[in-house]
Amino acid sequence: MKLTVVGGGSTYTPELVDGFARLRDTLPVTELVLVDPAADRLELVGGLAKRIFAKQGHPGLVTTTTDIDAAIDGADAVLLQLRVGGQAARQEDETWPLECGCVGQETTGAGGLAKALRTVPVVLDIAERVRRTNPDAWIIDFTNPVGIVTRALLSHGHKAVGLCNVAIGFQRRFAKLLGVTPEEVQLDHVGLNHLTWERAVRVNGEDMLPKLFEGHIGELAADLKLPAELLLQLGVVPSYYLRYFYQHDEVVQELLTKPSRAAEVAALETQLLEMYADPQLDEKPSLLEQRGGAYYSEAAVNLASSLLNDTGDIQVVNTLNDGTFPFLADDAVIEVSATVGADGAMPVAVAPVEPLYAGLIANVTAYEDLALQAAIKGGRERVFEALLAHPLVGQISLANQLTDKLLAHNKQHLPWA
Ligand code: G6P
Ligand code: MN
Repeated sequence: MKLTVVGGGSTYTPELVDGFARLRDTLPVTELVLVDPAADRLELVGGLAKRIFAKQGHPGLVTTTTDIDAAIDGADAVLLQLRVGGQAARQEDETWPLECGCVGQETTGAGGLAKALRTVPVVLDIAERVRRTNPDAWIIDFTNPVGIVTRALLSHGHKAVGLCNVAIGFQRRFAKLLGVTPEEVQLDHVGLNHLTWERAVRVNGEDMLPKLFEGHIGELAADLKLPAELLLQLGVVPSYYLRYFYQHDEVVQELLTKPSRAAEVAALETQLLEMYADPQLDEKPSLLEQRGGAYYSEAAVNLASSLLNDTGDIQVVNTLNDGTFPFLADDAVIEVSATVGADGAMPVAVAPVEPLYAGLIANVTAYEDLALQAAIKGGRERVFEALLAHPLVGQISLANQLTDKLLAHNKQHLPWA
């Protein structure tokens, strides 16, 4: 089985490679190709990847290339984890929205729109190349904003599934607190990528969320930085991205007084790359845990295995709505538990979504639809309309100011701006 990782020069890659090495019985990778335009990073990351495979006695071959067409040739699955413009572009996304009193974040709000505009054309170009050389290959998208990017891929007829680690993170966390294996935990996880709520945590069909709240409400709420009373009142665990909505103004105040996440990550990356350059290092360093990618590798291995081995098990993924949420169009992309096999991901039926969540889901889906139109067709008016539709913007003057800043800060990435 040949797997290609686009954006293979990412400092995250050793996490993935470690997962492929540990879980080789689930997913027998014979060739792992890391492709990245940054040859220097690729050399460092590729070197460590080879040492991780060797140390763990993995018989698979690790290769590196800067040539995307060579990389995807013959691949059974292509993982996308690229970042157009790197951390420098992320730094901008996290900064200029704050000047308008809006959250500066890589996937939420105006910064997330900028990222979508930069990313969608690049991903669609790669997907076209995959389809030309390898029409049967699956595309697994980690590239943010995952909801919009997956919708772009699916609306262009590509074989794609979107993936995020928020759900697997909750699954592992709840399993540990309940003293069961992660596989025994099934989440009633509803919403869109980075806009989700855990409504139930089922073990053998029984909802253990009330029990989790009894013993651990304090720590769960503290981790999410949300009030425990809110979780108890609603009876759900929102993802930490909901804080950007429920406590938007507080978050803006916090962000104004501390370094950006992009700056923190850039500093971490410098250290990580220095470590990767050490020929003695042959495992993923613990410093990598300071990135947000916990359990990415497990999620990726599980998903690739289910798609390629037709297992038909249930995982939380980003896929077509197809009537799952009757208040959204069938071609919207949602993040829910789905049965995954050789035909792709089919959402498991969910109980009706409460108005408190359905309203926000519908609103953000409308924004995502407009964001995708803007990303594909370009044009200031489309950018403005996406922002006007966004629940965190919604006012004419604010949407205009943000549009001007977005375009000014992204000229080099947007040929039409
Ligand atoms: C989580 C999210 C990812 C996001 C990452 C950011 O894993 O699910 O979508 O990219 O956090 O982590 P970072 O270390 O880059 O801030
Ligand atoms: Mn994510």
